[in-house]
Amino acid sequence: MEDLLQRPRRLRSSRGIRSMVRETRLSVKNFIFPLFVVPGTGVKEEIEPMPGSYHYSVDRVVEAAKEAYDLGIPAVLVFGLPEYKDAQGSSAWDDSSPVQRAVRAIKAVLPDLVVITDVCLCEYTDHGHCGLLHRDEVANDETLPLLVRSAVSHARAGADIVAPSDMMDGRVGAIRRGLDEAGYSQVPIMAYSAKYASAYYGPFRVAADSAPQFGDRKGYQMDPANGQEALREVALDLEEGADIVMVKPALAYLDIVSQTKATFNVPVAAYNVSGEYAMVKAAALKGWIEERKTVLETLLSMKRAGADMIITYHALDAARWLAEEKE
Ligand code: PBG
Ligand code: ZN
Repeated sequence: MEDLLQRPRRLRSSRGIRSMVRETRLSVKNFIFPLFVVPGTGVKEEIEPMPGSYHYSVDRVVEAAKEAYDLGIPAVLVFGLPEYKDAQGSSAWDDSSPVQRAVRAIKAVLPDLVVITDVCLCEYTDHGHCGLLHRDEVANDETLPLLVRSAVSHARAGADIVAPSDMMDGRVGAIRRGLDEAGYSQVPIMAYSAKYASAYYGPFRVAADSAPQFGDRKGYQMDPANGQEALREVALDLEEGADIVMVKPALAYLDIVSQTKATFNVPVAAYNVSGEYAMVKAAALKGWIEERKTVLETLLSMKRAGADMIITYHALDAARWLAEEKE
């Protein structure tokens, strides 16, 4: 018998003791559930590279929002596929586009569900880039007023929070001023602040029909090699008026989540993106991993790293699983 004074296993010896010393608890209140709205009626169609996730028409999306709300999930994040696309992405600020109609429909039935909208142009432009093109370059400053129009249109439809994901310089400040001038000074901005040019967005671009028709997004989204730059991006967005900052993707960037929380101590969101979801789903469908344990462990890691909010396609399943956990 060794006379060890320190035996960390003592605090792992029973379910009750483990529960007492647990440092992090994942809650349904941490989740934000993304929704994809499409034109038409009566549509609920599974998204091929994202098994268990669906395209909904406006009339059906309320069911999905209600399911989330009834499970205790506080918020949804709405993406839309428009009826038409053009060079400017003008359907992004059309008050009768699917996103705007979905926001009105959801808020009418579920006034207490927080409705967040993704503000970007890539779903709405015929070239699939997140801003206006000038020759083959995305023109930063010319894009800003279009993002502002889109954000104001979302707020007019009743969005509780707007979330710009375009990565143009100065867009948070421009949107803040635009919202304020239009009378929406109470609408917070959740900024995709550290958004990387990532291969993990592949399934989403199929779901949102938003892949760039030429080139890539490396001229505006961040280089995956850069961590210090992420903190500069976050600092800038906070100076410009961001209320919540986001790190995206989540799993390969937990160091950035952690540093963001430690450095700024503001509300931080992590986006558990489509490719992270697809990897887990594919392996689970093959029977190669246990989906439930893997998902809950992954989401817990994001919370432990410092995320207050986790945007995840697993939200409905995870909410059900958490409700069943005994701890
Ligand atoms: C639009 C946008 C993207 C995602 C969220 N908003 C795609 C992209 O930037 O190409 C990705 C979300 C996901 O992969 O789940 N700019
Ligand atoms: Zn975009």
